[in-house]
Amino acid sequence: MTRPRCVLLSEALDMRAYFRDVMAEHAPGVTLVDADTAEPDAVTLALAWRPPAHVFARFPNLRAVCGIGAGIDNILACPGLPEDLAVVRVLDPMQGPAMAEYVLFHVLWHHRRFGDFLGHQREGRWRRFVAPPAGDITVGILGLGRIGGEVGLALQGLGYRVAGWRRADGAAGLDAVLAQADILVNLLPLTPETRGLLDARLFARMKPGAYLIQVGRGEHLVEADLLSALDTGRLSGAALDVFAAEPLAPDHPFWRHPRIVATPHIASEASPAAVARTLARTAAELAEGRPLTAAIDRRRGY
Ligand code: OXD
Repeated sequence: MTRPRCVLLSEALDMRAYFRDVMAEHAPGVTLVDADTAEPDAVTLALAWRPPAHVFARFPNLRAVCGIGAGIDNILACPGLPEDLAVVRVLDPMQGPAMAEYVLFHVLWHHRRFGDFLGHQREGRWRRFVAPPAGDITVGILGLGRIGGEVGLALQGLGYRVAGWRRADGAAGLDAVLAQADILVNLLPLTPETRGLLDARLFARMKPGAYLIQVGRGEHLVEADLLSALDTGRLSGAALDVFAAEPLAPDHPFWRHPRIVATPHIASEASPAAVARTLARTAAELAEGRPLTAAIDRRRGY
């Protein structure tokens, strides 16, 4: 049997360097080729992160394109993506725990007011504040997929009340979560329906003074609306890990805003080894004519 060939497609990342150390161990049966390969007809798989527009037209025998993260919106947005091409997301069992760590940290940071204490320390001020018990705090989670579910369980483990929302719960379910959440965590996939969801209208439906943890995609957030909500006190603060334009520009107001904690898209990254294993599994499933375990539903968009 010929080894399946997988083309690396990205205009944003050096994919060769990314996979250098892991392919031989985790996907030994797959040969990686670059986008300018002399034999595009022999390519059946692609690994992609922000693939260049219309690049897929060069590979007429592609059967699946694999992303390198849990979110594959960057592939679905690619102009010229063939409509019937299977799109696969990474299966990395460590992404849920890593996201839970990130969210727990920020929930605790806000709930126990560590930001305030840090400010007082800088000024040499002894100001005590005793936080309410975790059971008095409701954390709303938008997006209850694999990762959202793990985040919810971790929060419950520390005693927080958790209110989750998924698309099937509809607008009324969303309002119910917004009305009770002291802290709102966005873990939704980016789709046409969720783009721009975190806007002034949504903030107005939240509890006054609620806190936002934004770990979905930058395009979920209307940045100017967040700045107004923080400036008017509608929201008390925000932890942001994802941005519409990454890297965040050096002069972006988020960097220096006193009520924003900004991190550079590090909340929970799939490991290159997990990507290679997902690729190997997809190649084997294609060869055996089996359904693809990691394929997303193209109509739903995740
Ligand atoms: C992902 C990410 O989608 O890291 O996994 O953003």
